[in-house]
Amino acid sequence: MDQTSPLPKPATLPDAQTVTSVQHWTDRLFSFRVTRPQSLRFRSGEFVMIGLMGDPDPKTGKQKPILRAYSIASPSWDEELEFYSIKVPDGPLTSRLQHIEVGDQIILRPKPVGTLVLDALLPGKRLWMFATGTGIAPFASLLRDPDTYERYDEVVVMHTCREVGELEYGRQLVEGLAEDPLIGELVGDKVRYYPTTTREQSPRMGRITDNLTSGKVFADLGLPPMDPEHDRGMVCGSLAFNKDIMAILEGFGLREGANSEPAEFVVEKAFVG
Ligand code: A2P
Repeated sequence: MDQTSPLPKPATLPDAQTVTSVQHWTDRLFSFRVTRPQSLRFRSGEFVMIGLMGDPDPKTGKQKPILRAYSIASPSWDEELEFYSIKVPDGPLTSRLQHIEVGDQIILRPKPVGTLVLDALLPGKRLWMFATGTGIAPFASLLRDPDTYERYDEVVVMHTCREVGELEYGRQLVEGLAEDPLIGELVGDKVRYYPTTTREQSPRMGRITDNLTSGKVFADLGLPPMDPEHDRGMVCGSLAFNKDIMAILEGFGLREGANSEPAEFVVEKAFVG
């Protein structure tokens, strides 16, 4: 019912899209790309519901879709859609989704929504992206959006994971930006990348929250502490992380914004399947 593409599809599922690539990053993380409905327009940072058909009900034989919210990790100009996911062994969706292969179909409801969008922020000088774990996904989209660089002089990406391998998806993305044929020139040297781990030794350690409150990140990057005149923040992580960082940002004098009332920072929960 949501499928408005005029092209006939080989699909039997409603809102079906075809998997075009799958990459496994660790035993807990993978990313994949699917075909994009022709009618789908979205703003970088938004999410959609995706999923698979559940097993048939033993009594009725009917199948229901299992859907979860996923941030779109690809930019709005990309002809495919990319997603980045955790694998939860007992997760109703990801225990199965992790086994998808090229040519398989997934369900994608083409109704993008979300608060992690540039339009919900007032103009500023420096944009801070704060992510834990798979919370890097919406930033993977925003970091490839020309708008990000047209609106901000500088973009600081803080991403924290327990282990080094969990940073790899974000690292390759950030490190590939300057060479990207479409946006590389716009990106230039605007992006400052600050990855940290908390449970495995790496060149930079510690929680984002601790590195902000101690002032370590400002000292390491040679930046002044955040202030509401110049700095804007986008947050995507676990509920506990979001709560803690919001308090810190408010301590710097920043206020939470929304589509209807832009301000200095926005927050989205990183979704777990
Ligand atoms: P830590 O290892 O100290 O718990 P998770 O895998 O549990 O979602 O965590 C992802 C990353 O986010 C980990 O590095 C974790 O650090 C960090 N983290 C979890 N909760 C918070 C929080 N409330 N504030 C800051 N960082 C957090």
